[in-house]
Amino acid sequence: MKKKILLFLVLLLPFANMLLHLQSAIDPIKYIYIQTGTTAISLLIVALLLPWLKRVVNLLRYRRMVGLFVFFYAFLHFLNFFVLDAELSISFVIKQTLDKPFIYLGMISFSILTFMAVTSKKSIFRRFAKWHQLVYGAIVLVTIHASMSQKVLSIVEYFYIFIMIFFIARKLKERFGFRFFKRYFSTLVPF
Ligand code: HEM
Repeated sequence: MKKKILLFLVLLLPFANMLLHLQSAIDPIKYIYIQTGTTAISLLIVALLLPWLKRVVNLLRYRRMVGLFVFFYAFLHFLNFFVLDAELSISFVIKQTLDKPFIYLGMISFSILTFMAVTSKKSIFRRFAKWHQLVYGAIVLVTIHASMSQKVLSIVEYFYIFIMIFFIARKLKERFGFRFFKRYFSTLVPF
């Protein structure tokens, strides 16, 4: 129990850090986008890494909490868009979504994360467990979303793209076997 409380506090640190530095930010809305967006995607990567780390250290019991924090930061990111950026204007939201396709990719991934957060409750999780594979769709969309939101790709976006290809390739290998994987992906991920 103590470990869970400690993890809860650690996962709140990016939020506390954001509040602390918000006043000194030159463009607070952009600052919130960057902080909440990068924290959400980083925690999503952590949540997806936990099953692969199982052989070394089994932290799977913390996956739900990490996942809920992914949703928390993605929700703050969405609130920043809807409340501070769009000032609650639906027409602004529609216009931005039509003008910038990366925004509706963000919306689709946010819908997936919301669905996963709502159905992660122990009592109903079993009924929806299969649907939680949608997380792989979310990581693909979020990676494209974050990359398209930039004018020029930096090392950070290349890292997201690399990690995303790694997860998808591993999943395809697990799902369809080594032959399929070798035929299509061996040149991309040499393992
Ligand atoms: C609710 C739907 C979403 C909307 C409306 C949205 C909106 C935006 C906008 C407008 C930007 C550009 C900010 C700027 O540089 O001016 C952005 C960037 C970004 N978003 Fe989203 N987003 C959504 C969902 C998500 C989700 C679910 C994630 C992650 C799990 C995410 C992660 C990111 C990241 C990493 C960036 C790049 C931040 C940077 O500049 O380094 N977004 N988003």
